[in-house]
Amino acid sequence: MSFLKTKESGEAQVDFDRLPRHVAIIMDGNGRWAKRRGLPRTAGHAAGAENFRSIATYCQKIGLEYLTVYAFSTENWKRPLEEVSAIVGLLKKYLLESIEKMEKDKIKLHFFGDLEPLPQELKDMCRKTSEISERYEGMQVNVCFNYGGRDEIVRAARHFAADCAAGGRKPEELTEVPGIGEGILEGLIDYVTTGEEKR
Ligand code: FPP
Repeated sequence: MSFLKTKESGEAQVDFDRLPRHVAIIMDGNGRWAKRRGLPRTAGHAAGAENFRSIATYCQKIGLEYLTVYAFSTENWKRPLEEVSAIVGLLKKYLLESIEKMEKDKIKLHFFGDLEPLPQELKDMCRKTSEISERYEGMQVNVCFNYGGRDEIVRAARHFAADCAAGGRKPEELTEVPGIGEGILEGLIDYVTTGEEKR
């Protein structure tokens, strides 16, 4: 990350002049991490979730405003049932811990993506974290779950089409799809992947 320098001791030092407002993390590489250690993929996801928690704590400490994590895409449902269940289980663990800690940390937690297919208990927890978040002004963590770029384009295009049908907009006014990334792209500068790819 361009705002981190390495001190002679090997410790990371923040360059506050270059600190972005928003960092987004694509949570990948969990499977490869586990494979290298001869562990099941689910162990990689568990380690990834722990790692994300440490990253979030660090980002809050250095004063980042927004941290976004792309945790589970609409494509990820195609993975084996056992793996999907483990990921949903990790999301539940993360939510339970967050509900307990966010009152102390003053972190805001927002969810993006279609949460409808999740078990009711998890949807209730997501709603609860959103309610708690309204009371705080701290760093905002955006968790993208069951999230997909195509899905987002369809939702935004439908919205625009409905405006046209109601007479509020004209199709020729469309130069870019309005609403794309709304609420999620605020101040976004750096994209980090936890696997090996550079984006
Ligand atoms: C991608 O790694 C990771 C996922 C599909 C799931 C990550 C989600 C969690 C760990 C759930 C917990 C969520 C939070 C917000 C803490 P991969 O399997 O594609 O790894 P690879 O790139 O090595 O194949």
